[in-house]
Amino acid sequence: MRTFIALDLPPDFADNAAALARRLSASMEGRFLKRDTYHLTLAFLGDVDEAQLAAATDALEAACAGASPVPLRSDGLGKFGRATDATLWLGIAAAPELEQLAARLRDELRARDVPFDAKPFKAHLTLARRARIPHVGLPHLAFPQDDEAYDVTLYKSTLDRAGAAYKPLHTVRLGTIAAERS
Ligand code: 2AM
Repeated sequence: MRTFIALDLPPDFADNAAALARRLSASMEGRFLKRDTYHLTLAFLGDVDEAQLAAATDALEAACAGASPVPLRSDGLGKFGRATDATLWLGIAAAPELEQLAARLRDELRARDVPFDAKPFKAHLTLARRARIPHVGLPHLAFPQDDEAYDVTLYKSTLDRAGAAYKPLHTVRLGTIAAERS
């Protein structure tokens, strides 16, 4: 199954990002993502078998053990790809807690031979795909208020004609000690 591990966003941050995306969608064409699918990918695993899935769950637990909640601070808009066919995203500032969590997770995956996309980590929240970004004339934009993220989830991703559907398989809450977790 196709899987990835992501930081979940607190509701206020996701609401504000969705409001930002709504403003942007008035200025450009693109496939804007549904608010409920927003997440910050820490590692994209792609297709894994049952044994790799179990190892990925262990890696997620190990990477989050003793880790702090992650400060979220908007860091402007950016894109991957060409302006005429871009992935448009909201950047998230590189807080040490976030960078360390992504690095630890990737180390724990590597230690268990779980494959993942090894592109360097760039913290971002995808707002739209296939976007045509205009050269000029974006409206005045309000960016999400600073917040904190507490949950890291291993997701199953299913692709169909309507886009991707994400199903949470295992979530770890940051900032709790292992004995408190159920
Ligand atoms: P994104 O992080 O730019 O939004 C599920 O597909 C998630 O994993 C998406 O959030 C997606 O892009 C991210 N992702 C990272 N690397 C990927 C890859 N090589 N293929 C597909 N999705 C990838």
